[in-house]
Amino acid sequence: MVVVSNRLPVDYVGGEGAETQWKSSPGGLVTALEPVMRATEGAWVGWAGVADREFAPFEHDGISIVPVPLSAQEIEDYYEGFSNDTLWPLYHDVIARPSFHREWWDAYVAVNRRFAEAAAAAASEGAVVWVQDYQLQLVPRMLREARPDLVIGFFNHIPFPAYGIYSQLPWRRQVVEGLLGADVIGFQRAADAGNFSRAVRRLFGYKTRGTVVDVPEGDGGVRHVVARHFPISIDAAAFEDLARMPEVQERARAIRRSLGDPDIVMLGVDRLDYTKGIRHRMKAFGELLRDGRVSVEHATLVQVASPSRERVETYRQLRDEIELTVGRLNGDYSTLGHPAITYLHHGYPRQEMAALYLAADVMLVTALRDGMNLVAKEYVASRYDDDGVLLLSEFTGASDELRQAILVNPHDIDGLKDAMVEAAQMPKRERARRMRVLRKRVKENDVANWSATFLETLTGVGTIDPGVP
Ligand code: G6P
Repeated sequence: MVVVSNRLPVDYVGGEGAETQWKSSPGGLVTALEPVMRATEGAWVGWAGVADREFAPFEHDGISIVPVPLSAQEIEDYYEGFSNDTLWPLYHDVIARPSFHREWWDAYVAVNRRFAEAAAAAASEGAVVWVQDYQLQLVPRMLREARPDLVIGFFNHIPFPAYGIYSQLPWRRQVVEGLLGADVIGFQRAADAGNFSRAVRRLFGYKTRGTVVDVPEGDGGVRHVVARHFPISIDAAAFEDLARMPEVQERARAIRRSLGDPDIVMLGVDRLDYTKGIRHRMKAFGELLRDGRVSVEHATLVQVASPSRERVETYRQLRDEIELTVGRLNGDYSTLGHPAITYLHHGYPRQEMAALYLAADVMLVTALRDGMNLVAKEYVASRYDDDGVLLLSEFTGASDELRQAILVNPHDIDGLKDAMVEAAQMPKRERARRMRVLRKRVKENDVANWSATFLETLTGVGTIDPGVP
């Protein structure tokens, strides 16, 4: 199997020649795919995260790594530009305004071609190639043209927007054509798959039957492409194991002490991204303090906002706004030893995250739009003690599965405030009842299950009856 993703599962961290150093970036995707990759002597094709550097393929933890080089200009135009300033805001319901630049599109095409060529070179006859995410939507078609022998899957980790929004994209036909090069196109939610099928019908008039799209081929035949949802998940057992470690539990207690031992610790954990609704949750929390419905001795908010895409202007502006808000709220409401908000602009290792999850009475996931939101699932998986309350935006993919959370519309600030108070006051038995159901759900569909279901669908494509939705 060959996996193709914008980022490799390892980051280049310095050194030269034989001294070249790589650090694993332990995401859920790597954990899920590692066993399959090892068993099939698989290769992972992706970018090493630095500009203007060429690296020869190498082995890392039993996986062959194939780095794809990007120039500084390509990082600007393909990664920061088209991927994260055109597609990202467009696919997240234009929460920020997408920019459309023809030179960014040209770079997107050129870089997608480079990834496709690297994947074609790495794949043996008849191999399975699994392409990941919105940065590489043209790769499936490019690969199919070069290597019709391959079995090609694509998974979109972010939402796919309604046609009214998608149709703004000047290159809307090329992107859909690119995706239709795959045998199976996976989405997070049924609604995303539905949006994609509608785009196919509107743009090309192809027939769709349930989850199958009939793509006419040059020879007069039709190729059946499956477009359906496969909600992604996490390595649930790994989070539970971490949370059960005595040193993690001790760390969780130490975190609470360091916050002045309040009754209620509320927690937000996000990449610093405008899709995450960080401002909405701070506004709600600030108003609760202002109205006297909570006091800093009673409740505190910890916000982990890990640095992200810092050269993109919208992200810089967001950082400024959030940091201004944190400063104001702390200035107005904190007392010595009792911070209103503890704001951490860092990423943390998984063990520290597990301690934070255990320390948090209320987990705030208030995204305005999110493909899935794995933080919600990590929190649930860590709460082996059947305690803690998840407050979850209905605009996340996770809300399709995690129905026992307190579901909120983060745009409704009054509703959000009430939900935060409800979460803080929820009786222990009710917390336990809900958490048990949530945990069962996350354990049942973990990331291994996700990848197995996708790959079974992909490798069984020949046997799918196109008449069955
Ligand atoms: C989202 C995307 C991923 C991306 C990640 C981090 O989860 O779906 O494709 O890798 O954000 O963003 P970055 O731009 O740093 O890779």
